[in-house]
Amino acid sequence: MDDMRKELLKALGYSEKAVDVLDAELHYGELDGPTISVRHQAGCGDVLMLDLRIEENIIRDAAFRFVGCSGLQASASGVAEMVIGKSIDEAERIEMQDIVDWLEGLPRNKFECAEASSITLHKAIAEYRARTKMADS
Ligand code: FES
Repeated sequence: MDDMRKELLKALGYSEKAVDVLDAELHYGELDGPTISVRHQAGCGDVLMLDLRIEENIIRDAAFRFVGCSGLQASASGVAEMVIGKSIDEAERIEMQDIVDWLEGLPRNKFECAEASSITLHKAIAEYRARTKMADS
């Protein structure tokens, strides 16, 4: 990302950390053989796909793809980074504000993008729970 774009993002309200996360494309991509892969379409039409690798209820790896805005990209990176190493129960408690806090700031009108990321995470965990429950029964 060039310096002009970085400055523009900061002027719009993205924190220094959020800009670094965007620049690094942190956890952008896909996992090879994920345990769970979900897709969520936000109200604005943007789409997030999240892959999780889960072993014994611990999230070992996470990656995402998206079609959408920088707010969605930054918050999905945040979600992926935050969940790695956490149990399913811990990850399930991550909400929109936790993502904004982890990023150290997003423009106010991008909070709904963080909300879309938390909804996608919760969807992935619900699907994992449903699947493991089915396997147990
Ligand atoms: Fe749609 Fe960011 S997710 S504007």
